[in-house]
Amino acid sequence: MSRRLAGQGKPESRRWAPDLSRGVQGLASHGEVDRSALESVVGKACESRHMRILFIGDIVGAPGRRIIRDRLADILAQQEIDLCIANGENAASGFGITPRIVEDLLAAGIEVITGGNHIWDRREILEFFPHEPRLLRPANFPESSPGSGLYIGRTKGGAGYAVLNLQGRTFMTPLDDPFRLSAALLGRIPPEIKIIVVDMHAEATSEKQAMGWHLDGKVSAVIGTHTHVATADARILPGGTAFITDVGMTGPHDSVIGMEKEGVLQRFLDALPARFVVAQDNVQMNCVLIDADESSGRARSIERLCFRLD
Ligand SMILES: [Fe+2]
Ligand SMILES: [Fe+2]
Repeated sequence: MSRRLAGQGKPESRRWAPDLSRGVQGLASHGEVDRSALESVVGKACESRHMRILFIGDIVGAPGRRIIRDRLADILAQQEIDLCIANGENAASGFGITPRIVEDLLAAGIEVITGGNHIWDRREILEFFPHEPRLLRPANFPESSPGSGLYIGRTKGGAGYAVLNLQGRTFMTPLDDPFRLSAALLGRIPPEIKIIVVDMHAEATSEKQAMGWHLDGKVSAVIGTHTHVATADARILPGGTAFITDVGMTGPHDSVIGMEKEGVLQRFLDALPARFVVAQDNVQMNCVLIDADESSGRARSIERLCFRLD
């Protein structure tokens, strides 16, 4: 049983929605309803709608997919999630993602799958990209790359949102400048879309933190991925952007960032080529839950969550 689900219900802050009957009674002290006042109450309800966003850290191999399959539906229901996003670049045996896995993850309740440096590891995904806009790759790959780094959609409740996937350049492939590109990409999002979530896939903590500050006040959340180890710095930046340097990993945690520790350790010891295999034990889902105001796009809270296979 996860620590989050054990005996915990939804937070009281969930979607402020006024009790209209109480509001009407209070406003109609002489038996008549003041329509303008009632509209004001309803208007405030609309203004204050919140979106609950679950962002899941890099899904690694079959163990990562198993916890998604076994646990995610209950988590989405119990946490009353409106939008679920996950990084899927390692979902196929630790390297890449296949069309079948994309379909399975979407069927499990994930609405948008982000990528990273491993997104191209399975060749069959190249042709699949044009068929599935909910699968993203970092936007700062060359324009000729298949797919897109930006997805604009609507939740089942009808609220608009955008997800932007960027990749860092420090200790990584020298792609286009994600900082400069982010401004141009945000300009493509219709102004009525307020909820914007950015997956900043990067090796360097400094680059991820810098992107958080760069986009503070412009997006709802900047979530770091790629390093597979959750950081303890989840916070709301002054401009209203939720931030964490790295959300962590969904997969086997008795490992070295998802791989069997023996092979990785041996490579550090003798520097010879080694075969990396996805580990199996201590499967956890690392994620963050973001509560954001639909009308402004500002985040109200970000909370680190960790679920385990029973
Ligand atoms: Fe990565
Ligand atoms: Fe990864």
